[in-house]
Amino acid sequence: MTAQQTLQNKNIVLGITGGIAAYKSPEIVRRLKDQGADVRVVMTAGAKEFITPLTLQAVSGNPVADSLLDPAAEAAMGHIELAKWADLVIIAPASSNTIAAIAAGLAGDLLTTLCIATAAPIAIAPAMNQQMYAAAVTQENIARLTNRGVHIWGPASGEQACGDVGQGRMIEALEVVEQTLNFFTPKPPAFKLLITAGPTREAIDPVRYISNHSSGKMGFAIAKAAQALGGEVTLVSGPVALTTPHSVNRIDVVSAEQMHQQTLVNAPQHDIFIACAAVADYRPALVCEQKIKKNDDDMVVSMVKNPDILADVAALTEQRPFCVGFAAETQDVETYARGKLQRKKLDLIAANNVSVTGQGFNSDDNALTLYWPNGQLDLPLTSKDMLAKQLVLEILKHYNTQH
Ligand code: PMT
Repeated sequence: MTAQQTLQNKNIVLGITGGIAAYKSPEIVRRLKDQGADVRVVMTAGAKEFITPLTLQAVSGNPVADSLLDPAAEAAMGHIELAKWADLVIIAPASSNTIAAIAAGLAGDLLTTLCIATAAPIAIAPAMNQQMYAAAVTQENIARLTNRGVHIWGPASGEQACGDVGQGRMIEALEVVEQTLNFFTPKPPAFKLLITAGPTREAIDPVRYISNHSSGKMGFAIAKAAQALGGEVTLVSGPVALTTPHSVNRIDVVSAEQMHQQTLVNAPQHDIFIACAAVADYRPALVCEQKIKKNDDDMVVSMVKNPDILADVAALTEQRPFCVGFAAETQDVETYARGKLQRKKLDLIAANNVSVTGQGFNSDDNALTLYWPNGQLDLPLTSKDMLAKQLVLEILKHYNTQH
């Protein structure tokens, strides 16, 4: 990599909305490409009133996407593919209309749909009249986006196209590029997170074990989201068929006792601990050295209790991390979850109803209800990736109020 290419291998979606500042967009694309980024442009209908897709296509070297309902564009790179492709979504200029739509979760065009469909971080560079920017509703919308982890770049102050003077001008193209470089520059971790994920396997003999249906997807999604939100992440994983999320430190274990040992050694060096693993509560009292033969009509396996990893971390008296448990329930979710919150002395618990088809164990989606001593919050059904991001942001809010 040369000094000119600090954004090499970075995929950036540049969303352009309707506003006079759209004239700055080709310069943003060129400068991002100078740094090695691959840039794909998404335009709203309003943006095309100010600048042509052809200009953006020429500078980006990629087709410009501007419609959710264009079969040809969807066949080339559909909106979900584009949402997954992005490492960062920048909206510059971001009109008050688009800011309001994203804050409200509307999906009326390609750009706003993409903002809901992507797990990538989003940055917006507001551009509007100073009075519109100062309006209470705009400020509320921006505050909502900030709370959701959206980065707000600018706006700048000065003379506006309409003749007004004040805050609302879009920051310059080079400042957008500077913010992008800054965004991708490794920084000291904002927090250190330890998480367990996946099932454990409890051996009966050399070829048999007791386990459960956990795929590890929920825990791995949380590890990925926490890393993307600036965390240094250690993932203690049971046996799963998943690739390690980018820049996450993974420790593989098999049994509950191994998971317990690795977690307890690492916990004091972390700010937050999330127990997402489906740990076997019991293990066979004896592991036969040789394969058990099929001699008798029935077979009894005597079991002993495994250590409770989460309760042991929460009981640490020194360097105790903020402790978040999971509760996998099939009935009376709140009662059982609150029981675990209290009994294991947790700061927060994320409960899922694993009896509902299409969520919980081994599915791509999930829904959670978070409980803490004097409150609760529903995170409705969505992909585990999106849910993980919402969960980590919520945990960080609680963690930050304690520290
Ligand atoms: O892996 P996936 O297929 O994506 O599925 C995700 C999931 C359903 C496994 C996940 O969302 C989930 O609910 N994980 C917790 C499963 C569980 O074991 O829940 P529990 O209610 O039995 O345990 C309560 C808490 O204590 C959990 O945080 C668990 O990690 C922890 N525990 C339990 C037993 C034990 N010996 N040690 C523990 O740390």
